[in-house]
Amino acid sequence: MTVADSSALPPASTQTVTRLADYRPPLYRLPSVSLTFWLDRQKTTVEARIRLERDEAVYRPGESLLLHGGKLALESLTLEGEPLMEGRDYRLVPDGLELLNPPVAGELVSRVSIDPSANLELEGLYASGDMLCTQCEAEGFRKITYWLDRPDLLSVYTVKLIASAADYPVLLANGNCIEHGTMPGGQHFAVWHDPFPKPAYLFAVVAGQLVKTADRFTTRSGRTVDLEIWTRAADAAKTGHAMMSLKHSMAWDEQVFGLEYDLDIYMIVAVGDFNMGAMENKGLNVFNTKYVLADPQTATDLDYQGIEAVIAHEYFHNWTGNRVTCRDWFQLSLKEGLTVFRDQQFSADMNSAAVQRIGNVRGLRAVQFPEDAGPTAHPVRPDSYVEINNFYTATVYNKGAEVVRMYHTLLGADGFRRGMDLYFQRHDGQAVTCDDFRAAMADANGVDLSQFGRWYSQAGTPVVRVTDQYDTETKTYTLTMTQSCPPTPGQPVKEPFLIPIAMGLLSADGQTLPTQLTGEATAQAGTRVLRLSDVRQSFTFVNVAEAPIPSLLRGFSAPVKLERAWTDAELATLAAHDSDAFARWEAGQTVLTRVLLADADPASIGPARTDLPETVANLVAATLAPFTGETVGAGADPAFAALCLALPGEAYLAELVPVVYPDRLHAARNALRTAIGRRYADDLLKIIARFTDTGPFQPTAEAAGRRALRNTALDLLVAGGNSAAIALAADQAKAAGNMTDRLAALTALVDTDHPERSAILEAFQADFAEDALVLDKWFTVQALSRRADTLAQVTALLGHPAYDAKNPNKVRALVGSFTTGNRAQFHALDGSGYGFLADQVIATDGFNGKLAARLVAPLAPWKKMDPARQGLMRAELDRIRKTPGLSKDVTEIVEKALA
Ligand code: PHE
Ligand code: ZN
Repeated sequence: MTVADSSALPPASTQTVTRLADYRPPLYRLPSVSLTFWLDRQKTTVEARIRLERDEAVYRPGESLLLHGGKLALESLTLEGEPLMEGRDYRLVPDGLELLNPPVAGELVSRVSIDPSANLELEGLYASGDMLCTQCEAEGFRKITYWLDRPDLLSVYTVKLIASAADYPVLLANGNCIEHGTMPGGQHFAVWHDPFPKPAYLFAVVAGQLVKTADRFTTRSGRTVDLEIWTRAADAAKTGHAMMSLKHSMAWDEQVFGLEYDLDIYMIVAVGDFNMGAMENKGLNVFNTKYVLADPQTATDLDYQGIEAVIAHEYFHNWTGNRVTCRDWFQLSLKEGLTVFRDQQFSADMNSAAVQRIGNVRGLRAVQFPEDAGPTAHPVRPDSYVEINNFYTATVYNKGAEVVRMYHTLLGADGFRRGMDLYFQRHDGQAVTCDDFRAAMADANGVDLSQFGRWYSQAGTPVVRVTDQYDTETKTYTLTMTQSCPPTPGQPVKEPFLIPIAMGLLSADGQTLPTQLTGEATAQAGTRVLRLSDVRQSFTFVNVAEAPIPSLLRGFSAPVKLERAWTDAELATLAAHDSDAFARWEAGQTVLTRVLLADADPASIGPARTDLPETVANLVAATLAPFTGETVGAGADPAFAALCLALPGEAYLAELVPVVYPDRLHAARNALRTAIGRRYADDLLKIIARFTDTGPFQPTAEAAGRRALRNTALDLLVAGGNSAAIALAADQAKAAGNMTDRLAALTALVDTDHPERSAILEAFQADFAEDALVLDKWFTVQALSRRADTLAQVTALLGHPAYDAKNPNKVRALVGSFTTGNRAQFHALDGSGYGFLADQVIATDGFNGKLAARLVAPLAPWKKMDPARQGLMRAELDRIRKTPGLSKDVTEIVEKALA
């Protein structure tokens, strides 16, 4: 399945490329395995009893069988009880162990040892604090035992764990505990059996001094499921929100998709050292503490929402990922895109659908759009990789979710459900492809979705350009759309996509106009979906009473950039009156974007603006008005208003310009914030007074929305230099009763030269010295400061006793926040930000290539930058590339960036 690549990369590269086109089913089935672990921090021994069965339909005579393995010390190996001899029967190779004359069938028993304490890559079996845990996706199981480590190989696992009862009182694995007991010498054991055949990447083991929070869920067919959240004793009081989110998820999946949980127990373990957010191991999820633990004093509204979403995401994987899994890793989006879509729909149902949707789109534009336009752009279903860990990307996850959402938009909720039902009916218990999913959607609805397949195979963000014409005589209105997609690495030319454009028409005074396409018998009232499938296509509406304002891409119905020359008046009407909340928000963002891009244009050299353009003033005034009168206006939503007042992000703005000058974008955005804060100071202060919470903290969407609007007002006022607001921020940063308000105030305050700034930061650190997750926030808040001394502060903080370069949360909180969230300073013209990041990448790569490869991303899009920065960024990429012993994870990203 792997060949040395000679074409796509510089000649110096020795990277091994895996290609989708080379897929071959496994030579062997391994239907069952019994594993025994003698767990120990420094030396764990693993015995694997594996049933081997050759697949004669695939196997070619004379072939050897490669069992994957990495960093394993082989202690013994037998086949049918006979010891195997190295050289004659097997060979150790860099990727594992090769059985030279593999039998038709037989029992293979291997014993290996591993050192969890030395595993800082956090893949395989590793130590986190004083617990031991595993991470096997994507290819970590091979670091535990020799195995055919690929997702299309499903086996039934029985696992015996043996460990010191004092050090590891709790012993967990997938499935049900079928036996446990004590042993001589202070040891004890537990045996776990998982009846569901699964790929190795869903395997998990956890051992340690853990306590559980327990609850129950009764499925709609009446089965009782034990729910257990395992944490350190000190954290047990913070699991309530996670548990509630889990129960909501279980009920939602039954209601919306008819999907019930299948085992009698569902366990979640929170660990402090984790490369990602969480992992959906069958019956035994392992979570980053960040997505489990919350209470009002330590977690923000955003944390509460993140927990709800990630708990749901991992739970939903039980069907979309575990019961039906991926044939190969190219199909990763089959489970991830679908499961992100499912968790987004869940969050929309639990909270405000419009607010959720806007949040999802903001995230997509800030992270996925740049990825799709840069040197590591890849299709939702990539066709080659060097290191699969580099493909857990915003494209696979978030654009993948948009692709799934488009089925939902094209087929309707009922049609989508029919497709899901057929998918499970056909594929339960199988490892399948994105094509299988698309076929289920098409067949269940009797439609042809072949063109839709291009969303999986073509990278890049399509651009849709719209022109229109109203004919007063015939009362017809014609929309003409053209689509194109920029070239991406390896894909110079694109074929047209099938793009669903959800839309409606408005009158000049904002009324909804009915829509009737030529050839249709009657008009429709609400949003309708146009299907753009050609490079250029026209849609003509009849009986249109007046020249309409088109509302296009409602709900962000496709992951594209849509361009039309709306007038300022049209945007104002859409922002005020469109029936679709997303479209209202989008119209306002377009107003803001226009001003920001004009201000940041390098051709318009001049002092920063101090006034507000009328378009922006009108928008802000209209947004604030419902909240500043005697009573709050009917239907006014504070959360939505907060989103309308949030200016487009710098990463998104950078996507819209041909050459990026990050300092200019930053300055333009700051100047506009400041101008809004000054001009609307009175209204913003009224909002602060109105939405100051007095009762106990509630993590509901409504309460979070009020806090969001209030803290947005505070941010704008502080940006405007309002002294009352700065004093308020200082108080709130010291004394707010909940972390949402406290952190928001601290975030505003760290930009200022307030005399108490450092004292307040220090007090915050002292208050939470024992709380790793709050300390992460403390590092982040300083890394995001707009003050000019931030890089110096960040560099100093690397030496702070609470900082831990081996802990991914800490590295992301300090280094990652600075390089991705503080664009102006990361891109400082003296190159200091680039040098800092390269140093951190090189240091991190020495022990955790996966973390380092994620860190390096901000250096990759150097070709989009102004000439001075290009050279500086390139030089740092070169320096990284030349580092001896660089991981293949970082090598792949850096070589793609330099190609
Ligand atoms: N599969 C996990 C999820 O998205 C993510 C993950 C990937 C976690 C690889 C760890 C390692 O739910
Ligand atoms: Zn996932």
